[in-house]
Amino acid sequence: MTHDIVTDTTTPAADQADEQSRRERELTAKVLASFDGAKDERLKTLLQSLTRHLHAFIREVRLTEDEWHTAVEFLTATGHITDDRRQEFILLSDVFGASMQTITVNNEADGDATEATVFGPFFVENAPRIEIGGDIAGGAPGQPCWVEGTVTGVDGAPIPGARIEVWEADEDGYYDVQYTDDRVAGRAHLFTDELGRYSFWGLTPTPYPIPHDGPVGAMLAATGRSPMRASHLHFMVTAAGHRTLVTHIFVRGDELLDSDSVFGVRDSLVKDFVEQTSGTPTPDGRALGDRPWSRTRFDIVLAASGR
Ligand code: BEZ
Ligand code: FE
Repeated sequence: MTHDIVTDTTTPAADQADEQSRRERELTAKVLASFDGAKDERLKTLLQSLTRHLHAFIREVRLTEDEWHTAVEFLTATGHITDDRRQEFILLSDVFGASMQTITVNNEADGDATEATVFGPFFVENAPRIEIGGDIAGGAPGQPCWVEGTVTGVDGAPIPGARIEVWEADEDGYYDVQYTDDRVAGRAHLFTDELGRYSFWGLTPTPYPIPHDGPVGAMLAATGRSPMRASHLHFMVTAAGHRTLVTHIFVRGDELLDSDSVFGVRDSLVKDFVEQTSGTPTPDGRALGDRPWSRTRFDIVLAASGR
C-alpha cells in the first residue's frame, strides 16, 4: 500500500482565521448583491458604497455587540432630541467633519472664488433688510464692527444687486433664536450697489459653543473635545448666474481657529478685525460715544453657476 505524503503547511489556527475571513467577506458580498436590482443607479452606488465602508469599519475595529448596542442607543437619543428647532443629526454630521467634507466636495475650487463653510442651524428666512451702511445688531449686545467689501465674479467684474444675508451671535454667545422672546437681532440682508460694494455695522464676533447638552455634546465630552466654535460672522451671498456662497469670516488671532468644533475654518476666511480705540472717527460718521469699535474687510468672489 502506498501513501501519498501531503505536506500541509497551514496550522489549524490559520485555517480558522481563513474560514472566519471567508464568512465575513461572503456576508458583505451578499449584502452588496441585495442592492443589485435597484432601479435608481445613484441609489445603488450610494448604498453599495455605504455597505462596503460600514462592513470594513465593523471588521477593522472588531465591533463588539455591546458597542453595537451603545451606538444604537446613541442614535436613538439623537433622534429623540431632534425636533423642529433642534437638529442633532446635523450637529453630529458637523462634529464628524461630514458636513464640511460634503461642502468641500460640492464647492469645487474655481479661480479665486471665496471658499464655502458650514451653514449652521441659526439662519432664519426673511431677516430684516438694511441699506448699505446700516446696522444688523437690532439691539444685540456687542462691540460695533464695521464690515465692508465687494462682491465680484472670478473674472473680477463687480456684481451689482447681489443679495447678502448676514447673521451672528451676540457677545454673550447666543443667536436671537436661542432666546425665548422672539427678538430679531444680529441678522439682516442687504444688496450690493452698482459697483458691487457693500458695508454694514455688525458686532465683533465672539466665540460660543455649539449646543452641547445632548448626545453630541456627550460624545465631545467623552473624547475630550471642546464644543467651542471659533469666532465668526455668517454670510450667504446669492446673485443670478453665480453659485450661491454660504460662508463665514473668522477673526485672525482667535485661539480657537485650530480647534473649531465643526472644522469650518479655512485659512482664506480668516480676516483682520482691526481694533479702533474710542473716539476714532467712524467711516460713516456714526457717533459711538466712548465705545471702542473694530473694522474688517471681506471681498467676496462668486464662482459661476454650475461650478
Ligand atoms: C454655527 O456657526 O452657527 C453652527 C454651525 C454648526 C453647528 C452649530 C452652530
Ligand atoms: Fe455661527
